Amino acid sequence: MPKIKVCIPAVFRPLLSQKKRIKFYYGGRAGGKSYAFADSLLILGRMKKLFIVCLREIQGSIRDSVHKLLSDRISYYRLSDYKVTDTKIENKVTGTVFVFKGLRDQDPQKIKSLEGADITWIEEAQTITKKSWDILEPTIRKPNSEIWISMNREQENDPLWVAVAAQPDANTLVQKVNYTDNPFCPQEMKDLADKCREKNPTDYAHIWLGEPILNGNNKLIDLQSVKKAQSGHLIETSGLLLIGLDIARFGDDETVFCFRRGRVCERFEAYRKKDTVEVANIVTHYIQQYQPYRIFLDIGGQGAGVYDILTDRGFREVVRGISFGEKAIQSDRYVNKRAEMWDGIRQWLTGTSPVYLPNDTAITDDLCDVNKKYDRLGRLQLEEKESLKRRLGRSPDWGDALALTFAEPIFEQDMPNLYTNDTDKISIETLFCGKDAGRGW
Ligand SMILES: Nc1ncnc2c1ncn2[C@@H]1O[C@H](COP(=O)(O)OP(=O)(O)OP(=O)(O)O)[C@@H](O)[C@H]1O
Ligand SMILES: [Mg+2]
Repeated sequence: MPKIKVCIPAVFRPLLSQKKRIKFYYGGRAGGKSYAFADSLLILGRMKKLFIVCLREIQGSIRDSVHKLLSDRISYYRLSDYKVTDTKIENKVTGTVFVFKGLRDQDPQKIKSLEGADITWIEEAQTITKKSWDILEPTIRKPNSEIWISMNREQENDPLWVAVAAQPDANTLVQKVNYTDNPFCPQEMKDLADKCREKNPTDYAHIWLGEPILNGNNKLIDLQSVKKAQSGHLIETSGLLLIGLDIARFGDDETVFCFRRGRVCERFEAYRKKDTVEVANIVTHYIQQYQPYRIFLDIGGQGAGVYDILTDRGFREVVRGISFGEKAIQSDRYVNKRAEMWDGIRQWLTGTSPVYLPNDTAITDDLCDVNKKYDRLGRLQLEEKESLKRRLGRSPDWGDALALTFAEPIFEQDMPNLYTNDTDKISIETLFCGKDAGRGW
């Protein structure tokens, strides 16, 4: 069989490299989901004999299915080992078979024919009903079989989202993917997305960022306020410099610095795979170069070591170690520090004075993805980090870095002595001690 070179975008590689019962990809338009699923299945079908079932809720005719996309990809790669007929696709060498079905047309007897499926691809899964899923899920039970799901979110309570992705178990991969993750996204699509973002941020969030339509009451931060902060020019500020530092906990996470002066979040700096000493060296450099008023760093995991090195170097006055799980300052309103700091971002974004945030999708996505809830005492609580991470397929490192800059109220009186020889370089931000100050944040 001739070898072919297929490029699967990085975010989709777990389709080929990980073993999970369910692989759930969701997001907005043009994320590359359909192409990546089709290409991955064609590759797997050439490696060994598989029975692949392609499902959607309703399939009026084969034209509604992914049959056309698979056939197009077979022609594009000139895969002469695949034979395409009107209703099926077969691999003449391995014996792999693709079939195409509409779930709603299947009565319980017919659905039994799907029992032998090795991989089931549910395309356009936002239209799948709870009833269809309840019949299908126990049917796909061949050992090692996988269910691949591709979905553009519709409503907050999309049945498959609620059943599979809202609280995924360890055997379920949930990954968000948007057009910004698709290296093949055509320029015309990007232009359409840009236009939509300018004209209607709420539509943009739904269509292009994959947010459900009824986005609202369980999100802590709404996209509109983020977009507003990102649409202005960099505001002049003489605010004290605060740096939030979220330190990577696992290999895939990023170590992210956020630089904020009062109303202005100036920039983010992200690093990968830095050890404790390297992170401490970067912080030392920033202290010497920028003389921040405070650096709030996450001391969960590796951060504790970074904190120790920095205090040992004499920066105790400037560096504050923060644990996301620690008690909030206003413990009657917030379950923990993390909820309090993130609510600091929300108040900052929605306060009366305009604020500025860099226009980067990493921070947009992080801020708009976090769900909120209330405990039985009515205190604000955020969705647990682990659940968020499973749902998004990454941790909100950029959002956490910005949140850390809201760890403590800032008062001008206690300027660090560390910089006393140089105080004229640091002007005092009074804005955030006034009445719009979000209680002194
Ligand atoms: N591997 C690839 N090679 C070439 N082009 C690609 C590839 N993957 C994606 N594209 C391009 O990106 C576009 C969007 O990809 P795709 O249709 O797979 O996205 P999607 O997430 O399924 O979006 P939708 O919500 O519109 O169904 C395609 O129309 C195609 O132009
Ligand atoms: Mg698609």
